[in-house]
Amino acid sequence: MLSVAILAAGKGTRMESSLPKVLHKISGKSLLQRVIDSCVELNPDQIFVITGHKSKEVQESITDNKKIQFVIQDPQSGTGHAIQVLCKAVKKNEGKLLVLNGDVPLIKPETLNKLINLHDSKNANVSLITTKKKNPYGYGRVFLKGDFIERIVEEKDCNDLEKENPLINAGVYCFNWGKLSEIINTLRSNNNQKEIYLTDTISLLNNSLSLEIEDNGELQGINNRIQLSECEESVQNSIKEKHMLNGVTFINKASCSISEEAEIGKDVVIEANTHIRGNTKINSHCTIGPNTFIENSNVGLHCEISNSTVYDSQIIDHIKIGPFSHIRPNSKISSFSKIGNFVEIKNSQLEEKSKVNHLSYIGDSIIGRSTNIGAGTITANFDGQKKHQTKIGKNSNIGANTVFVAPINLGESVTTGAGSVITKDSKDNTLAISRTKQVNVENWEKKKS
Ligand code: UD1
Ligand code: CA
Repeated sequence: MLSVAILAAGKGTRMESSLPKVLHKISGKSLLQRVIDSCVELNPDQIFVITGHKSKEVQESITDNKKIQFVIQDPQSGTGHAIQVLCKAVKKNEGKLLVLNGDVPLIKPETLNKLINLHDSKNANVSLITTKKKNPYGYGRVFLKGDFIERIVEEKDCNDLEKENPLINAGVYCFNWGKLSEIINTLRSNNNQKEIYLTDTISLLNNSLSLEIEDNGELQGINNRIQLSECEESVQNSIKEKHMLNGVTFINKASCSISEEAEIGKDVVIEANTHIRGNTKINSHCTIGPNTFIENSNVGLHCEISNSTVYDSQIIDHIKIGPFSHIRPNSKISSFSKIGNFVEIKNSQLEEKSKVNHLSYIGDSIIGRSTNIGAGTITANFDGQKKHQTKIGKNSNIGANTVFVAPINLGESVTTGAGSVITKDSKDNTLAISRTKQVNVENWEKKKS
């Protein structure tokens, strides 16, 4: 029987944040969610998440929580206290208990498995992951005696000599839960932080083992925003390396960010300062960027998007967008279309080969195939209370500076005169024009005053 406890009750004082530490994100996913995802891979029998500081917020952040049971630790008197609360809240303290700090987000399931295997094979009372750090500052130092761990001393309780020990406690433990619960209530807070330390269990249990692994970034704990940013960089580097090995070019890798879920096809070029977020798919042969942001969208083959923003939309094949356009949610731009500069499109469908080249707002609209929208066209879709639809049939030519006062429905091959305010529907092959006729006053001279 394998149970997991994730410690997520602390405030994270050193983050200097109103957000609980474990809800800070790395590449779009919270620290806590990352730890949960790693241990779900082990298929444990039960997962406990110990929350305390802003526990409602922390609990609500976990959406898929079928396997998770929350335990509240209030007040938060230290990591050992958190496990005292857990042992009291759970009836049967039996089998193995894997304890993970909620602020060690990059821990891999393979490493957790190694720890469990060592623990089982040696029939240990507690096994924990250690590593030698060049700069061990802030971590608990692990002191060995022969093959066993003798004790762990926290940074704040170390003397100068103890501080020189590079072997640190990663905050990942596997306990024999029965043995742990026999001694858990004997922990005291007689230390410099006046906290009940989980690390003090080590010298109370015998047969305590260390699984020392290479310091490869996986064990980085996050206490402050410098460490948060280091972890972000290391996750981003591995995401980008994966894409580069799969045939994606980055022009200026450091200035770009890519979500873990993003899929990118071969021969895609990602120009500088481009950010691909959420569940986005970029198909082959596209050039994206510079200065482009795409979230939860699908971009087809051979598209070029520069200096633009795209949210929750479908961009089909051979499309050019930008510079400086904004494609807002629920838009579909069909193949061979072109969206030029300073164009905003929202909740609209553009059929194939349509063009909106300059300075336009197209909202709640359906634009037919091969229709050209002239510069400065606006769909006035909001009457102050409700949004209304604009429909323009295929092969139409919309004159510059046309305003469509929606709801409006134009047939196919319709032309509108430049500067028209269109308030009435029109049939196929119509010229719709609504503007005052030009008057030419000939031989007119400005009066001199
Ligand atoms: C802890 C370890 C240290 C180790 C380091 C690894 C202890 C005493 N020290 O130190 O040996 O090297 O992690 O990263 O355990 N938490 C609770 N309830 C509390 C206090 C903390 O749930 O009352 C949670 C926090 O939310 C956090 C985790 O426990 O996720 C670790 O707490 P933190 O205060 O960051 O411990 P460290 O000082 O980093
Ligand atoms: Ca920590």
